[in-house]
Amino acid sequence: MSDIKKKIIWVTGSGRGIGRAIALELGRRGAHVVVSSRTEEEIKTVEREAEKSESQLFARVCDVTDEKSVNDLQQAVRSHWGPIDVLVNNAGLGIFKKIMQTNLDEWERMMAVNARSAFLCTRAVLPDMIERRDGHIINVVSVAGRQPYYNCGGYCASKYAMLGFTEVLRMETRKHGIRVTAFLPGATDTAIWGSATVDRSKMMQPEQVAQSLADICCAPASAMIEEVVLRPMGGDL
Ligand SMILES: NC(=O)c1ccc[n+]([C@@H]2O[C@H](COP(=O)([O-])OP(=O)(O)OC[C@H]3O[C@@H](n4cnc5c(N)ncnc54)[C@H](OP(=O)(O)O)[C@@H]3O)[C@@H](O)[C@H]2O)c1
Repeated sequence: MSDIKKKIIWVTGSGRGIGRAIALELGRRGAHVVVSSRTEEEIKTVEREAEKSESQLFARVCDVTDEKSVNDLQQAVRSHWGPIDVLVNNAGLGIFKKIMQTNLDEWERMMAVNARSAFLCTRAVLPDMIERRDGHIINVVSVAGRQPYYNCGGYCASKYAMLGFTEVLRMETRKHGIRVTAFLPGATDTAIWGSATVDRSKMMQPEQVAQSLADICCAPASAMIEEVVLRPMGGDL
């Protein structure tokens, strides 16, 4: 396993859910973790939780659909710690409705949070990675980026887009020494499900998902993990 101690890792959408669990796990493993989302109270809470394990966190508000907000955060991290080593594009939004019931605003919000954000954050960190011939971008897609699910028209469309983006990014950056991993979790018990009628007892816990993602970060840099699909045991989610 490679050592991620003091590696600078930005986890987007890390105020709650899977992102929060990833940030705390990476912090425990010694990385310098950038925690961001739009809700200041949530990222400050994560920062306080991480203090218990003496983790190094840098928490800042960032709307990943907004180019200026993304670029400002990248610059702030650069001044504080230095260039970002690993980007985890995790921020996401799910609005689970039939296509006929999905309005344009809901469609556009999912496309922006799930697909445009990955493009904007990647573009912000790539120049430093290319110059240093080192870097790792992990995109938290979903099994819904590979197969269709009922009531997920907008969500699937945005995650299929994210997976397509991930695969082209890998082709274009491999020669620059950059690793690109698509991470496809199945159902995980977080707030993304809202009030949807789903059996949460069959879902994975965010901490389990975070362990796998942290293991990907720790994999030897001499080889590339291109894709990981992680599904809960039992059930069909
Ligand atoms: N839970 C599952 O079953 C599951 C399965 C497969 C894949 N995933 C994917 O895993 C990722 C995390 O999902 P989750 O289940 O942990 O959801 P969650 O609990 O709802 O967390 C989503 C995170 O994204 C942030 N976010 C949303 N819009 C943002 C924006 N415009 N700018 C910055 N941050 C934003 C949220 O913070 P703010 O709203 O405060 O900004 C929050 O911190 C998503 O990409 C999701 O699609 C989830």
